[in-house]
Amino acid sequence: MQETGLTGRVALLTGASGGIGMALGRRLIAAGVTTAFTYASHADEAGTLVKEAKEAGLSAIAVQADLADPAAPAALVETVVGALGPIDVLIPNAGLGEPCHYADVDLAMWDRSFAVNLRAPFLLAQAVLPGMAERGFGRVLFTSSLAAFTGGIVGPHYAAAKAGLHALAHHLASRVAAAGVTVNVLAPAMIEDTRMLPPAADRSLLPVGRFGRPEEVADLAMAMLGNGYLTSQVIGLDGGAYPR
Ligand SMILES: NC(=O)c1ccc[n+]([C@@H]2O[C@H](COP(=O)([O-])OP(=O)(O)OC[C@H]3O[C@@H](n4cnc5c(N)ncnc54)[C@H](OP(=O)(O)O)[C@@H]3O)[C@@H](O)[C@H]2O)c1
Repeated sequence: MQETGLTGRVALLTGASGGIGMALGRRLIAAGVTTAFTYASHADEAGTLVKEAKEAGLSAIAVQADLADPAAPAALVETVVGALGPIDVLIPNAGLGEPCHYADVDLAMWDRSFAVNLRAPFLLAQAVLPGMAERGFGRVLFTSSLAAFTGGIVGPHYAAAKAGLHALAHHLASRVAAAGVTVNVLAPAMIEDTRMLPPAADRSLLPVGRFGRPEEVADLAMAMLGNGYLTSQVIGLDGGAYPR
C-alpha cells in the first residue's frame, strides 16, 4: 500500500466511471482509501472499482447520481455518509463537455453544463466542508480544464463553467484553511482513453506532441490530495499547452 496520509480516510469520487475517474479510483484503492465511486450511466465501470477495492480489503460503494439534478449532491452525500461514514476527501471529477459552436449553445445546454460542471461541485463542497472543518481534516479537489484558461475547443458553456471552479476554490479555500482543509483545482487537457477527449483534438498542437494519460492525472491528483500545505491553487496538466 502506498503511504499518502490518506490511508483509512473516506472519499467521494464523482465521475468514477470515466477515464480519469477509473485511474484515480485505482490510485485511491492503492492508497487504502475507503471510497464511494459515482457514475451516471456506466454502472459496470464503477462496479469494477468496487470489486477491486473489496479485493484489496477496503469498504467501497458505487452510487448512481445524475448531477444535473439540483437535489442529487445532497442526496449523494447523505448516502455516502450513511454507508461509509463522514467524508474526508471530496473529488468532484464528473464533467460534461458537449462540443458546440457558441452561436448554437441554447439555454438547456448552458444550464446542463453549469449544473454538472459547476453547481454540483459547489453543492457537494457546501455539504461536506463544515464537517471536514469540524473534524480538522479535509481535502477538496475540483477538476477543471485547460479551457478555463484559454477558452478551449468544447464551447463557451464548458469553458465558463470550468473557470467558475477556480473562483470557487479560491473563495472556499480561505474559509477552511485554518481548520486543516485544503481546496484545490486540477486542470487537465487532452487526456486520452476518456470519453471527454473531443474528436477534433489534435495532439500535434500540444508542445509535448502526445495526449496525456489518465494515470498521469491520477498521479498529480494524489500528490495534491496528499499535500496539506497546498491550498487555493489551480494546477494545469496539459503537456505545455498553457502558458506557452
Ligand atoms: N479528458 C480530457 O481531455 C479532459 C480535459 C479537461 C478536463 N477534463 C475533465 O476531467 C473530468 C473527468 O472526465 P474524463 O476525462 O474522465 O471524461 P469521461 O470519460 O467522459 O468521464 C466523465 C465522467 O463524468 C460523469 N458524468 C457525466 N455527466 C454526468 C452527470 N450528469 N451526472 C453525473 N456524472 C456525470 C460520467 O458518468 P458516466 O460515464 O457513468 O455517464 C463519467 O464518469 C471532467 O470533469 C472533465 O471535464 C477532461
